[in-house]
Amino acid sequence: MEQTRSSEHSAFQGKVALVTGSSRGIGRSIALRFARAGAEVVVNYRKAGGSSQAAAEALCQEIAGMGRRATAIQANIASKEAVRSLLQAVRERIERLDFLILNAARAPFKPIERLLERELRQLVETNYFGNIFCVQEALPLLEASGGTVVFISSLGSRFYNPAYPLGSMKAAMESVVRDLGESLWDRRIAVNGICAGIVKTDSLKVLRQYWEEIDLMPDDLFVDPEEIADVALFLCSPQSRGIRGQMLVVDRGLSNRLYRPIPKTMSRKERE
Ligand SMILES: NC(=O)c1ccc[n+]([C@@H]2O[C@H](COP(=O)([O-])OP(=O)(O)OC[C@H]3O[C@@H](n4cnc5c(N)ncnc54)[C@H](OP(=O)(O)O)[C@@H]3O)[C@@H](O)[C@H]2O)c1
Repeated sequence: MEQTRSSEHSAFQGKVALVTGSSRGIGRSIALRFARAGAEVVVNYRKAGGSSQAAAEALCQEIAGMGRRATAIQANIASKEAVRSLLQAVRERIERLDFLILNAARAPFKPIERLLERELRQLVETNYFGNIFCVQEALPLLEASGGTVVFISSLGSRFYNPAYPLGSMKAAMESVVRDLGESLWDRRIAVNGICAGIVKTDSLKVLRQYWEEIDLMPDDLFVDPEEIADVALFLCSPQSRGIRGQMLVVDRGLSNRLYRPIPKTMSRKERE
């Protein structure tokens, strides 16, 4: 066990991870996991001032208490300019980047057909454009380090939920992961992703308002944020070197359960 810990440490020591949207939730756990493995961490968050900034700064202090360096940088990934400044700050202040964890996401919970134009734009700008801006701006640093990109997706990319328009962006990004996994391979950059099950974070509190059945789900089927963080670390470790452009499902088997009760839908006769 000690030997495993020290070899893990040597794989991540002196390396730098940027985790988008890591002031709270899954991103926070990923930032802590990389720090524990020996990496320096850049904690990104969206909203300047207020609880998000306070949480990001508190996280950096916690990481400093572990003897690792951490820097909090505000940037709304939906803005190309903001992403450019974020990566410029990484280049100037830290001078390297090994791991880009595309974790930030923001979306309304409502059916696609009811999305207002501004909600639809925000959905695409944050969750599609934003992630691609991050990859584009990080490319020179990742190429120099032979780095890794890990995208955090969700089961909404594959399964219907009446109030989860984010699912369509996750599906689009899973295709981007496959494409970048191929196109960046020769530039020594690995690109993979995690398709995560349901995790108890702030966003679940909102989802619960639209999806009452979620409270019927056995506790054992909820994924711990640390379980996602462990797989993100694995995808950045030399042990994952044979994986290219793939999504790993981390859902405690939730998506295996086809026997769950099927909700009543319109019969063929009613429809016709
Ligand atoms: N929770 C789940 O059940 C679940 C399941 C599968 C996959 N996921 C995925 O896992 C990731 C994290 O989810 P979570 O539940 O931990 O989220 P969360 O608790 O809602 O936290 C979201 C984080 O992203 C940041 N963020 C949002 N929009 C941003 C933007 N435009 N630019 C920069 N940062 C931004 C937020 O910063 P502010 O606080 O400043 O807004 C916050 O730090 C997401 O990609 C999500 O889709 C979640």
